[in-house]
Amino acid sequence: MDNTLQHIAVIMDGNGRWAKKQHKIRTFGHKKGVEQVREIAIHASELGIKCLTLYAFSTENWKRPEKEVNYIMSLPKVFFSKYLKELMENNIRVMMIGDEGRIPEEAMSIFRQAIKETSGNTGMILNFAVNYGGRDEIVRAAKAYAEDYKEGKVTDLDEESFASYLYTGGLPEVDLLIRTSHELRLSNFLLYQLAYSEMIFTETLWPDFTPEELDRCIEEYGRRKRRFGGVDETESD
Ligand code: FPP
Repeated sequence: MDNTLQHIAVIMDGNGRWAKKQHKIRTFGHKKGVEQVREIAIHASELGIKCLTLYAFSTENWKRPEKEVNYIMSLPKVFFSKYLKELMENNIRVMMIGDEGRIPEEAMSIFRQAIKETSGNTGMILNFAVNYGGRDEIVRAAKAYAEDYKEGKVTDLDEESFASYLYTGGLPEVDLLIRTSHELRLSNFLLYQLAYSEMIFTETLWPDFTPEELDRCIEEYGRRKRRFGGVDETESD
């Protein structure tokens, strides 16, 4: 069965713990985390991955101290001012998923600019999940579908047509989820999309997650047998 790897999603966890281990404040970990975003994005693009979705900020992350939230919201500026040129050189297209409403205007306008500038690129999609929540996404999709139904634009609903109402509509299925820092949960990430994804949970904290470790995850993915609820040909009677 199909084992090609097109879409990798990553829960980039462990920045705070990484910083504490260095006796530094949490934001120091996020700063290093941004460098890893660059490393991993360029590497994934070189490997021919079609889409890399990164969980940068969840709908629950607003509960963090204001200082930390503000710092994280300043990271798009840091990232794109440093690396947009390199993203262009690598033909990478930037996208974003999540509820744009609550994201500070400065961060939003930086994202909009990056999305616009890279919109003609045909290589890997670097997709940032910001103010993203999986349940929120599903509720929004259901509401949008109900509106279209009321207006007579659609009639029937199936899994595929429902998926087109999600933020990820049009993107390839998520083949592989990686979560760093050994937390064994989904934390409201891509709840609908991960139904048949392979999952890898690594011990490594995100700031230490290297391209070599991504290679190892991809090798591990290659060894998995994806059955999508069926049976493997070699195991059938
Ligand atoms: C989780 O670690 C990390 C985050 C909530 C923020 C992740 C954001 C980035 C790495 C930068 C994103 C880049 C752009 C361009 C938007 P944690 O703080 O929960 O770590 P802990 O579990 O050790 O406390």
